[in-house]
Amino acid sequence: VGTGRLIVVSNRIPKSNEVPAGGLVNAMHEALTGAGGLWIGAADPSEQALDGLTRIGSGDYDRATFAITEAEHIGYYLGYSNSVLWPLFHHRPDLLDISESEFEAYAAVNRRVARAIASTVKPDDLIWIQDYHFLMVAQELRALGIANRIGLFLHIPFPNPTDVMALPQVAALSSWLAAHDIVGLQTMRDVTSANEVLRHDPKAQVLRGGKWLRENRTFSVLSFPIGIDAEKFAKTAEAARKPDLQLADDAPLLIGVDRLDYSKGLVQRFEAFDDYLSRRAKGDPRPTFLQIAPPSREDVAAYQEIREELERTAGSINGAHADLDWTPLRYVRRHVDRDLIAGLYRRADAALVTPLADGMNIVAKEFVAAQDAEDPGVLILSHFAGAAEQMDAALLINPFDKRSFSDAIDRAIHMPLEERRERHQTLREGVFEKDIRWWTDSFLARLSQVRP
Ligand code: G6P
Repeated sequence: VGTGRLIVVSNRIPKSNEVPAGGLVNAMHEALTGAGGLWIGAADPSEQALDGLTRIGSGDYDRATFAITEAEHIGYYLGYSNSVLWPLFHHRPDLLDISESEFEAYAAVNRRVARAIASTVKPDDLIWIQDYHFLMVAQELRALGIANRIGLFLHIPFPNPTDVMALPQVAALSSWLAAHDIVGLQTMRDVTSANEVLRHDPKAQVLRGGKWLRENRTFSVLSFPIGIDAEKFAKTAEAARKPDLQLADDAPLLIGVDRLDYSKGLVQRFEAFDDYLSRRAKGDPRPTFLQIAPPSREDVAAYQEIREELERTAGSINGAHADLDWTPLRYVRRHVDRDLIAGLYRRADAALVTPLADGMNIVAKEFVAAQDAEDPGVLILSHFAGAAEQMDAALLINPFDKRSFSDAIDRAIHMPLEERRERHQTLREGVFEKDIRWWTDSFLARLSQVRP
């Protein structure tokens, strides 16, 4: 990667030496452990937000935080990032909660981040911005005269041109994108959407090979589906102690692991399981579906609502189907350690990864990596997860269609060993080949090729 440093920016950054859950943070940790460099992220909100960076921790790479105020946390994080961009980019314009002051807080934080980067960057450094919290940072850096190579990777889906019209700042979006050298997206579907949005901008001109020209700058929009450290995760799963679930040995275990988010399709998933329970053959062993869903962004109303709806649904499903010695649905809201999760994946007969919209969904890849190849479990995967573009050997389902979803649960539970092995082998090859190092190397190789 040339001679310069790698500077990564993401909103969330591990504050202690322990890496918290969440796809992005795990991926960045793996990437930086390999490449080295500086990782910049948001500090916990405080009363005052001075410019500059504060070094934290120590390890294989440097870490530093920029400050934000309580008011900015509300406007920038809860507001524009998670009540405007997140719902819009996950095809839920009905959940938008737009306010001008929140956009101002977002712009202010993006400017502060740009100044912080500008204060430390050297000419050969690569700047790699992560996710929707910082769509304006590159433009601010260019305004400060920073000519370095700048990449953006968006971990979430790219909105289609119709949804994007609900964004008050829609007219500025393509200029934000154009300030980068490489705009990386998860899937080809996302690239198609981004290209369509750019095509609506009279100032943007399409060149060849995924390139665009806008106001004398060229930039590329390309897909880089994110991966996991498959080898490490497989080892963790293999070494994990057998989770004590107090289940009969022949009881099928289904598992779901998600942040409690409306994009994850949890209510639809519970309802499909309900449908399966209503229709299952009475002689079959009684299944257990374990859903781990730690709450997220709890100060945003839409998250409180989905949590209530999910809890109502879980209660009514167990009310209808449970017996004195059987709870078919186990809903665990607390955080569960990664090592334990790895062991649960390995024990599980099927994983339900069935979002309504999702950038990639790393759970799908972790589940595959964790399986015992001799007797592997079945991945039930939504068409709407970015992972579906690579993982078509999974049982692909439409989470909106309850009956076919519940048929897939039945099929997974009864799938013969040979078919499970075949599907697993194909999936496993993909997960191990296009792992996190492949992702980091291919993105950074493209970014390094750009002439600054
Ligand atoms: C998704 C986003 C990340 C985010 C993570 C956890 O994976 O792409 O940017 O960090 O969710 O969400 P949170 O708001 O808790 O950081």
